[in-house]
Amino acid sequence: MTAPLTNSRPVTVAVSLGARSYDIVIGRDVLSSLGARIAALRPGARAAIVTDRTVAGHWLAAAEASLGTAGIATSRIVVGEGEGSKSYQGLATVCEGLIAARIERNDLVVALGGGVVGDLAGFAASVLRRGVDFVQVPTSLLAQVDSSVGGKTGINSPQGKNLVGAFHQPVLVIADTAVLDTLSPRQFRAGYAEVAKYGLLGDAGFFGWLEANAPEIFAGGGAREHAVATSCRAKAAIVARDERETGERALLNLGHTFGHALEAATGFSDRLYHGEGVAVGMVLAAELSAELNLIGTGEVERIARHLATVGLPTHLQDIAGFRQEGLADADRLMELMAQDKKVKRGRLTFIVLEAIGRAAIRSDIEPAVVRDFLARKLAG
Ligand code: GLY
Repeated sequence: MTAPLTNSRPVTVAVSLGARSYDIVIGRDVLSSLGARIAALRPGARAAIVTDRTVAGHWLAAAEASLGTAGIATSRIVVGEGEGSKSYQGLATVCEGLIAARIERNDLVVALGGGVVGDLAGFAASVLRRGVDFVQVPTSLLAQVDSSVGGKTGINSPQGKNLVGAFHQPVLVIADTAVLDTLSPRQFRAGYAEVAKYGLLGDAGFFGWLEANAPEIFAGGGAREHAVATSCRAKAAIVARDERETGERALLNLGHTFGHALEAATGFSDRLYHGEGVAVGMVLAAELSAELNLIGTGEVERIARHLATVGLPTHLQDIAGFRQEGLADADRLMELMAQDKKVKRGRLTFIVLEAIGRAAIRSDIEPAVVRDFLARKLAG
């Protein structure tokens, strides 16, 4: 693990994917370099910014100013905020907007926003005129450390999250850590769950560093940049080795099998943000790992303690309206997990922990064992 940044120079993390390689540029105020970087990468290209109403209020003017200064003709498509925009209707709105803006094969789509905007705009770019390039400008912590990197794009089906989509890598990611200052504490915490995930799945030293430095990460500055850069490096390395998730990339789903089911059970609503579901899911994954004698209960407690210290929910009982029908039902959660993309020939894949800093992929855990485990957790 490298030492935290002590100056304000941007850090560049390369995602090595042959002809589809790209840079992630991380630092305070790097949004102002968006136009110059795009002009250098795609001289003469026009750009269409896809964003949502909230992000537009904060950052659209800065993004447009940067593109304008670089001489890039720019149009904008503003969608409603929230998961509801990641729909067939949302996709149609963005595609029709891009066509109306005459975005052509050599032009660029710029996704300015959190995970919803990145997934939606990236998917629209993947199908528009059979594929145009796009740039990710993630404005949430979750998007900066996870969803903007690695090329997963898509929308939700009424039957489940992210069930319609494509792998489409961006040509550039601009992660401006200063834009995170406008996030609510709850949104920032939810993104932090994905940061902690990288420590848990592959870097015990980073997890220890997070335990010591979380307050500084929340405050901003060098520790925040170090956390984002370390997370992006970890993700870039895994994506470079397994772009299409035929193996190792599945490790990034630590906490997500349980987490997605909990999100679905709470109606993808404000009752549980994605990162909060991941936090509860990671503790459940750790507890399941302990039941399988893979890790000790002391490690489970250490994980739960750290996530709780930053204010994340860690147990099912922490979820708002926990006792409402649907959530407090192991069979329903099993059903929701069965819709997951991680199901292969009826077998659920779980990411388990063999230590803090070492995860493994398991497809051999009997559904009855998981159901029994969940029933006990729900009762507890
Ligand atoms: N968010 C998990 C992945 O990109 O593979």
